[in-house]
Amino acid sequence: MSKTRIIAFANNKGGSGKTTTAANVGCAMAKLGKRVLLIDGDMQLNLTLSYFDEERTLSFLEEGKNIYTALKSEKDLGDFIVPTDYDGLDIIPSSSLMSGIEFELFPKWQREFILRKCLSPTVARGYYDYILIDAPPTLGCWVMNIMCASDFVIIPVEASPWGLFGLANMFDFISEVKNISPRLEVMGIAITKADERKSYFKQTLETLGEFDTARLFETRIRVDSTVEWSQDNSQPVVAYKKYSRSALEYVKLTKEILEYANR
Ligand SMILES: Nc1ncnc2c1ncn2[C@@H]1O[C@H](COP(=O)(O)OP(=O)(O)OP(=O)(O)O)[C@@H](O)[C@H]1O
Ligand SMILES: [Mg+2]
Repeated sequence: MSKTRIIAFANNKGGSGKTTTAANVGCAMAKLGKRVLLIDGDMQLNLTLSYFDEERTLSFLEEGKNIYTALKSEKDLGDFIVPTDYDGLDIIPSSSLMSGIEFELFPKWQREFILRKCLSPTVARGYYDYILIDAPPTLGCWVMNIMCASDFVIIPVEASPWGLFGLANMFDFISEVKNISPRLEVMGIAITKADERKSYFKQTLETLGEFDTARLFETRIRVDSTVEWSQDNSQPVVAYKKYSRSALEYVKLTKEILEYANR
């Protein structure tokens, strides 16, 4: 039986490329023959919208087929899995009700471990090679749950003047998580939306290079409008235009991630 590896995509800085990276790495892994479960952990529903149109995405709320319903009643997440259009790739959709998740978690016993508990039957079945969790841009009890359920965290960072803002808080938060869930490992920082012609790009890289808390992935994802077109079509770019620059970069990043996870 294969061991399921769980990877969180997190950064408290909004718009840093978490969802785009989780959606594309998940799809690229499935195309490379892995069995993957995506979990949309954000009330903005962006990961779900990466695979389904708005109508279908909202239907998961009505049907109760979403992460919020599962967590609220502390149910086995296996019952909330929805297949995507891609072989080997499933998803647990989010719900706009995730806006109230902090309030729901607060009174629960061992509230940092609710996601880990709800996910454990799926992990024990060993069907999935990877579970990828898209975190919201916050650092509260819910993101603590996501990290406590994960083996690795990948931090997408936008190569922009404000992209590094708050990164120190993020690492303080990760240290706190490690106190209660020592297995969590920072796999690395993935640079997204890079524009190498801009002078601040070089400056961002230099600053990150001085950052000895985490390694950088070699592959950088450059700015590419194909990413936005793919999202408009409810498809990850690796499926929408597989030979586009960003699709090729995402496949390369995925291979780096697979190599690291299997060391
Ligand atoms: N390589 C890219 N080229 C161009 N645009 C991109 C690229 N990657 C992401 N974007 C755009 O940047 C925006 C933010 O990306 P994304 O939603 O993945 O970030 P996020 O960290 O998940 O945001 P949030 O914190 O709101 O959850 C989106 O509009 C997306 O289309
Ligand atoms: Mg997002």
